[in-house]
Amino acid sequence: MTISYDLISALAPGNFHSGEQLAKRLGVTRKAVWKRVVNLRAAGVDVHAVRGKGYRLASPIELLDKEAIVADFGPESPIRSQIEILGSVDSTNRYAMGLARQGAATGTAVFAEWQTAGRGRRGRTWQSPLGSNLYFSVVWRFDPAPANLQLLGLALGVALAESLSRAFDLTRLGVKWPNDLYWDNKKLAGLLLEISGEAGGECVVIAGVGVNVAMPHTSRELIDQPWTDLSEAAGRALSRNRVAGVCLGSVLDGLRCFANDGFRSFLPRWDAYDLLFGRAVAVREGSKTTLGRAMGIDGTGALVLQTHHGKERFYSGDVSVRIHQ
Ligand code: BTN
Repeated sequence: MTISYDLISALAPGNFHSGEQLAKRLGVTRKAVWKRVVNLRAAGVDVHAVRGKGYRLASPIELLDKEAIVADFGPESPIRSQIEILGSVDSTNRYAMGLARQGAATGTAVFAEWQTAGRGRRGRTWQSPLGSNLYFSVVWRFDPAPANLQLLGLALGVALAESLSRAFDLTRLGVKWPNDLYWDNKKLAGLLLEISGEAGGECVVIAGVGVNVAMPHTSRELIDQPWTDLSEAAGRALSRNRVAGVCLGSVLDGLRCFANDGFRSFLPRWDAYDLLFGRAVAVREGSKTTLGRAMGIDGTGALVLQTHHGKERFYSGDVSVRIHQ
């Protein structure tokens, strides 16, 4: 399915446009405009059609814009030239890995307005409706790969939680091990790290970030876990470009800091945002469920649980964690 970015740009401000006006602007027939509206709806965009008035979006969309994203970065920051904004893509992680294979520099960032096959952790789908949330991936090269690379996701989760709390005055924001961001016990954002390379040699990390900014009604019932978005958490509508700038800055700083110093400086910061600490949790590994009280993480990033048998450690990967009470 192809999406008309001329149409979405025309409708983005949220006012009515007649079919005739749109047909003229896009240089197509009114029937073709209607077809494009149908495609937009299928991409998760809420488009109203009102007889006598024409089409408008249920709410205005702020499309991503490179200059607006980098507005808070210093003028000497090289990041401007390393950002790519795509209209649609299957997954920014897959696309960024392709760029990395072609030699993209460390710090290259890819944003998309829409992902047709957004990937979550553990093989899940990441709902990625058009023009409403944030989806981006950053390429980072390590040479050689650090021994504790498995801690990078935890580090970036903490970095993001800190930056979002600070920028948008959020309380009740925490990281659920290993790297999910929760607000008020509902999922707000997630990280998917994909790594390619050889042990001891160069490796490329693709750090993919999905943040719910303002989930449209059309996608709400498709999400199979308790979720929230930044506009609910902040209690007001937020600029997507500002959220994008804050999150990109945070991930780049987190990657830089981890590359220079490893996890050391992140450990106390993790403790400050650890959503599970002290809570009764259920950890599922395949068909086995272990109940216990979460005691934080150890130096390898494993989740430590106090169980009836003593302290048990769990490593991310195929493990899922639920708060038990
Ligand atoms: C999770 O919590 O399951 C991780 C979600 C990660 C989603 C982001 S959106 C941008 C990037 N591209 C993808 O396909 N996935 C990540």
